[in-house]
Amino acid sequence: MSKRYLIRTYGCQMNEHDSERIAGLLEADGLTPASSIDDADVVVLNTCCIRENADNKLYGHLGALKALKDDRPELEIVVGGCLAQKDRDLIQERAGHVDVVLGTHNVHRAAELLARARVDGPITEIWEEALDDADAFPSALPAKREVPYAAWVTIQIGCDNACAFCIVPSVRGREISRPFGELVAEVERLAADGVIEITLLGQNVNSYGRDLTTALRSDAPSPVDRARAGDAWAIDPARRPRPLFADLLDAVSTVDGIRRVRYTSPHPKDLRGGTIDAMARNRAVSPHLHLPLQSGSDRVLAAMHRGYTADRYLAKLAAARAAIDDLAVTTDIIVGFPGETDEDFARTLEVVAAAEYDSAYTFIYSPRSGTEAADLVDQYVDPAVVAERFERLRIVVERSALAKHEARIGLTEEVVVEGPSKRDPLVTSGRTGQNKLVHFRADRVLRPGTVAEVHVTGAGPHFLRGDLLAVTAAPRHRTRIPVAAG
Ligand code: 5AD
Ligand code: SF4
Repeated sequence: MSKRYLIRTYGCQMNEHDSERIAGLLEADGLTPASSIDDADVVVLNTCCIRENADNKLYGHLGALKALKDDRPELEIVVGGCLAQKDRDLIQERAGHVDVVLGTHNVHRAAELLARARVDGPITEIWEEALDDADAFPSALPAKREVPYAAWVTIQIGCDNACAFCIVPSVRGREISRPFGELVAEVERLAADGVIEITLLGQNVNSYGRDLTTALRSDAPSPVDRARAGDAWAIDPARRPRPLFADLLDAVSTVDGIRRVRYTSPHPKDLRGGTIDAMARNRAVSPHLHLPLQSGSDRVLAAMHRGYTADRYLAKLAAARAAIDDLAVTTDIIVGFPGETDEDFARTLEVVAAAEYDSAYTFIYSPRSGTEAADLVDQYVDPAVVAERFERLRIVVERSALAKHEARIGLTEEVVVEGPSKRDPLVTSGRTGQNKLVHFRADRVLRPGTVAEVHVTGAGPHFLRGDLLAVTAAPRHRTRIPVAAG
């Protein structure tokens, strides 16, 4: 019988996508998915290190796995992702039962390292950076997608910014854009496979292409640089250096079969008019902008090195709302950045109220060693004060989200079906173009990937409720029908 694997993923969509790729590699190696940890021969923990409790959680899980491995010594344990990239040898020092530790730049080596560990014993392999494009981008095949009708497409890895609180640049490395032509070809392949929705992923998607065009601006760009940018852009020296993110939105939105294009995350300082125009002109691009604010205080924003003021942020938001019909806006906010005063926080509450968010991810500041802010120990904010601010912010965000959602009652939304609701199998769940979760009643079973019209009848701060009006389109992907041997 083939060996079985189980992958646990922590953190962001980039990690989820890396996990799909690890799954693809393991399946190419003959493994099949396990239904639970007891049933698994290989367990992969794909880790995140953006906030502190992730570390504690990992070592907690590894402790539990140790007991399992004591019972079943053949169990193989792999730790990958950002925390592995950051902690390196420390993982096997603290947890000697881990077979393979790999980082963010060598995900493609997962299956090979496992095979080597079987012969040679525990291995930690961390690369400083990827050796070439094919290895750098998780979207390069093989991958096993979580859902058949939607796919993530990594357009860029790394981050060239230096936000004072953020560990990402040190674990994900410098910004590298995936070649334009490869991205479009990948989306065409996905569409041919029946995918109707793609999400473009990057730490800083608005600066997509910056590295490609910098290379083109040299007096004599090499044929490799020209090919990476794409010949269509490279041949005309009179043109503004391109491709830009807006060009990518144009190109992927017009691929036949792609109904929805989402992307995350743009950085407010780099959000250009051109991107807003491309969102407005391409019907396939979802009317949803995730624009991380982090703080409403200009003093804190400057200390964070965010490169914008609250007024500038709100002006960009107003421009986006003026240009894009029915735009939903979401954000990330950090509470308790070192030195944050009551006045700073009051300003955050004001800006959040003015921005009228559809939802917000709120985080308590977590010092990450090696980042600039972690050194500001004498300015750390009292945890009790932070907790109280966090709760006040939650109330303001929920009020705004509820108002946004209630305003949709009575509307008809186009919904892509995800499947039966987790809480109640008689209810179907799906997502609107604005990426809102909708739970609705339907008189029939709708397969994931079905496109339906739903009449919105109710709202909460985190979801809409409704009734099925009509099915607009059946799923485009093929459903694999199990064939009984015999
Ligand atoms: N502490 C708290 N939140 C953080 N984020 C990033 N680093 C930290 C940190 N050290 C949040 C930011 C970012 C989101 C992905 O995680 O808000 O936008
Ligand atoms: Fe971190 Fe800032 Fe880069 Fe985002 S833009 S990944 S917050 S450094």
